[in-house]
Amino acid sequence: MEVILAEYLGFCYGVKRAIKIAEENADGKSCTLGPIIHNPQVVEKLRREGVGTVDSLQEMEEGTVIIRSHGVGPQVYKDAELKGLKIVDATCPHVKKAQLSAKELSESGYKTVIVGEKNHPEVKSIFEWSNKEAIILETEEEAKQLSSCQKLGIVSQTTVSSERFKRIVELLLEKSNNIKILRTICIATEQRQAAAIELAEKVDVMLVIGGKNSANTTRLAQLCEEKCQTYHIETAEELSPEWFKKIEKKEKIGITAGASTPDWI
Ligand code: F3S
Repeated sequence: MEVILAEYLGFCYGVKRAIKIAEENADGKSCTLGPIIHNPQVVEKLRREGVGTVDSLQEMEEGTVIIRSHGVGPQVYKDAELKGLKIVDATCPHVKKAQLSAKELSESGYKTVIVGEKNHPEVKSIFEWSNKEAIILETEEEAKQLSSCQKLGIVSQTTVSSERFKRIVELLLEKSNNIKILRTICIATEQRQAAAIELAEKVDVMLVIGGKNSANTTRLAQLCEEKCQTYHIETAEELSPEWFKKIEKKEKIGITAGASTPDWI
C-alpha cells in the first residue's frame, strides 16, 4: 500500500515557536500557564525536560511563567509581575495582532465583535484585551440579533474559517454605517484543512494524528470522515491491523496531523 502525507500538516508556526521558547526556558522552575498545546505527549515530554504546567498563577510562588500561543489578557501580565514572576511570552504573533486589534477598536469607541468560539482560550484572551467590552459571536443567528450601533469593529479568532467569518460579516454589514473589519485569520488552519480534504478524496483510509482534546485535530478528522474511512489517533500504539486488512497492495493511506501534533509522533 502507498502512504501519502498531506501537503500541509502538523505544527504551525506559532506552536513551533511556543515549544522552542518553552524548551529554551526548561530550568525546572518554569511553568506554562495552561498546557502549552492540546497534545498530552508534548506536555509530558516538556515536563520531563523541566517545564511544568499550572492552571493558575496562584499555584506559582517563584520562577518563570510561560504564556502559551493562545495568549492571555493584560491582567495576567500584571498579576505575574506583582508576584515577582519572570514572564516569557510565547503568544503567537497572529494572536497578538488580534488582541491588539480588539484593544484598539475598543479604545477608539467601536462596539467590538469577536467572531469565534466563546469558550476557546484564545477568544477569551482577545476579549480581555478589548477591555472586556467585546461581544463574541459564534453563529449567524447571534449576528442577526446584534443591535445596531454608530461604530462597529470586527476581529476574528485566528482559527475561524474564512467562510464562517464572511457569512457573519455579511450579516453585520447591516448593523452600522461605520464598520471597521480586521480580518485576523491565520491561514495555517485552512491550509491544513484544504490539504486534508484534498488527500482524503484520493485515498482509501485517512489517519488523523493528534490530541483527542485538540479542536483543530478533531475538525480535521470530521472533514476527512466526509470523504473516506477515517481514524483519529494520538499515538502509533492505537493503530489496529484490522483497519488495513481489506486494503490491497495498490491502495492508498493518507496521513494528516493537527497544528498541535509534533513530527516525532
Ligand atoms: Fe498562530 Fe496560526 Fe498557529 S494563529 S498558533 S500560527 S494556527
